[in-house]
Amino acid sequence: MDIQWYPGHMTKALRKMQESIRLVDLIIELADARLPKSSRNPQLDQIGQGKSRILILNKADLADEAETKKWVDALQKEGLHVVCADARNTKVKERVRSLMEGALKEREEKNKRKGILNRPLRSMVVGIPNVGKSTFINAYAGRSAAKTGNTPGVTRGEQWISLSKSLELLDTPGLLWPKLEDKREALYLALVGTIRREVVDNRELSKELVLFLQERFAGRLGERYGIEEAGTPEEVLERIAEKKGCLLKGGALDMERSAGMLMEDFRKGALGRMTLELCGEKGPAGSEKEEHEEDG
Ligand code: G4P
Repeated sequence: MDIQWYPGHMTKALRKMQESIRLVDLIIELADARLPKSSRNPQLDQIGQGKSRILILNKADLADEAETKKWVDALQKEGLHVVCADARNTKVKERVRSLMEGALKEREEKNKRKGILNRPLRSMVVGIPNVGKSTFINAYAGRSAAKTGNTPGVTRGEQWISLSKSLELLDTPGLLWPKLEDKREALYLALVGTIRREVVDNRELSKELVLFLQERFAGRLGERYGIEEAGTPEEVLERIAEKKGCLLKGGALDMERSAGMLMEDFRKGALGRMTLELCGEKGPAGSEKEEHEEDG
């Protein structure tokens, strides 16, 4: 299955990201805990050079707990500050705040040595589409969070949310673009819903999902829908349609609906927690070398 992403989006996203990153001290990067490698864009290392970083493995409620722990350990060994989270839960606040305060202290010490007066630590949330950026900002900042006035240099419409006297967060998240050169990674990103529906054929994608589940998570389809899960994807989707009563007028099976139902169930975790990208399967955090080896 061929998955494309318009280059226009990337150029625009890159320009916008560079403008915003200039204004912040700390980048809060959100990745998907089910895809800790391919839901990150390694170009952030270049764009965000010299900035403090926190990585949140979000949607951890949908990923396999033991796998997430392995990923967190591996990424921490690389020197990253990592937390796993469910951005819809406000508990994420405390853990991220303590990491932010660590970054603040570091900067204060640096500034003290240089004799610079401290201003609040400014941060922004970045990540690929649908990873939970807005949800995180809402959970973190809440409705009650005070918005600061317009700041020179910030694009109109963007504001700083004051988290405390010394911590500020840009209220608009930065959009990272998914890299889709690796076919398997592109498929995983489409499966979790990163790539917009207009670009990906849902029926085709649901067939890929059946193949993926049969191979990697045998038993989950049978358990969820009470069906025999062996067979071609088309047969499996027909069985789901029959079991779930997905029928068109006249009684034919509504395959569009069963495909949509399967995708939806998978994305909201109704088929159980799953980590698509296993730690150690491929080096964590996007090693270019490994990608070339695979491509070649
Ligand atoms: P974005 O700004 O990065 O594009 O993502 P956004 O916050 O809009 O979140 C995308 C979807 O993911 C939302 O679902 C949101 O509720 C859900 N979400 C965010 N964080 C988590 C998490 O930690 N766990 C789970 N399970 N879900 C999370 P939605 O409003 O239903 O949107 P849709 O994807 O169904 O259209």
